[in-house]
Amino acid sequence: MIKVHDLTKHFGAKRAVDGISFAVERGEVLGFLGPNGAGKSTTMRMITGFIAPTSGSVTIGGFDMLENPIPAKKLVGYLPENAPAYTDMTVHGFLNFAAEIRGLRGDAKARAVHRAVEMCFLDSVLHQSVDTLSKGYRHRTCFAQSIIHDPDILVLDEPTDGLDPNQKHEVRQLIRKMGEKKAIIFSTHILEEVDAACSRAIIIDRGKIVANGTPSELRRKSEWAGAVTLRLNGVAPDTAREKLNRLRSTKKVTTESNGAHLIVTVFPRTAGDGDLTREVIAATNGWQIEELRTEDGRLDDVFRSITMPDTRN
Ligand SMILES: Nc1ncnc2c1ncn2[C@@H]1O[C@H](COP(=O)(O)OP(=O)(O)OP(=O)(O)O)[C@@H](O)[C@H]1O
Ligand SMILES: [Mg+2]
Repeated sequence: MIKVHDLTKHFGAKRAVDGISFAVERGEVLGFLGPNGAGKSTTMRMITGFIAPTSGSVTIGGFDMLENPIPAKKLVGYLPENAPAYTDMTVHGFLNFAAEIRGLRGDAKARAVHRAVEMCFLDSVLHQSVDTLSKGYRHRTCFAQSIIHDPDILVLDEPTDGLDPNQKHEVRQLIRKMGEKKAIIFSTHILEEVDAACSRAIIIDRGKIVANGTPSELRRKSEWAGAVTLRLNGVAPDTAREKLNRLRSTKKVTTESNGAHLIVTVFPRTAGDGDLTREVIAATNGWQIEELRTEDGRLDDVFRSITMPDTRN
């Protein structure tokens, strides 16, 4: 549904997007992650045809965005960053307008507006003007605009930004549900959204893709993948460290006292190595273990280890 090939955007001397290629199929929700200034919004603006690339191509449902923009754009719903909307319109007026410019008329338009209002919980503000809405409601109004024509493809730039925790949850559920039938790309800074809504995630940094995989594939790149955490009673930190450091699969051991307990984490030499858990269980035979847990890996750790703070702006 979405095919991006060697996409590049220069702003003067600045390379905001630097040779990105990827594809998104129907039934996929792709999470777009990366530090501030990484090039996420710029990539999304090119995918939706809002700005032209310096080089490279975007194909939407088989239509080239530069050569065939109208059929390509018909397939796409777009929630831009910062949720722009016409501030002097009411929510109802704005959504009617959005439906009209998507070519909907009469009953079809009324049904489309009604559906979007229900999905985005806008009933209570329908006749309020956009400039008097709270940030979250304004965001939801713009989100409603992006789904008004029930498009096959959705490009959502930080769709949960500024929403309260309940609404964040609702929007993630909605994205996941819609993703069963559509192709969706959404950007976020909230790493737990990757687990909550994405089938795959791409991390970009300085305009380039630095990781591309399912949430569990990405998590396995973390030094926490396969780490074993123990909560122990009556074991001295030195004893724990000495014994567990000697295991064949151990990379390092950390200890931390927590009241009467000792929390020990044993990191594997090879991330995701399942042998470590067996070795730890054998080595701790006779110790008083309150809890033993093997970690899946941590996305925030992967994110930090493969991206660098932005220094260009
Ligand atoms: N119109 C423009 N003119 C000049 N530079 C721009 C323009 N738009 C974006 N940039 C620059 O391109 C780079 C990428 O910006 P972009 O908005 O795509 O980042 P982002 O990944 O969306 O960041 P954030 O997480 O902060 O939203 C930044 O260095 C930004 O300053
Ligand atoms: Mg952005």
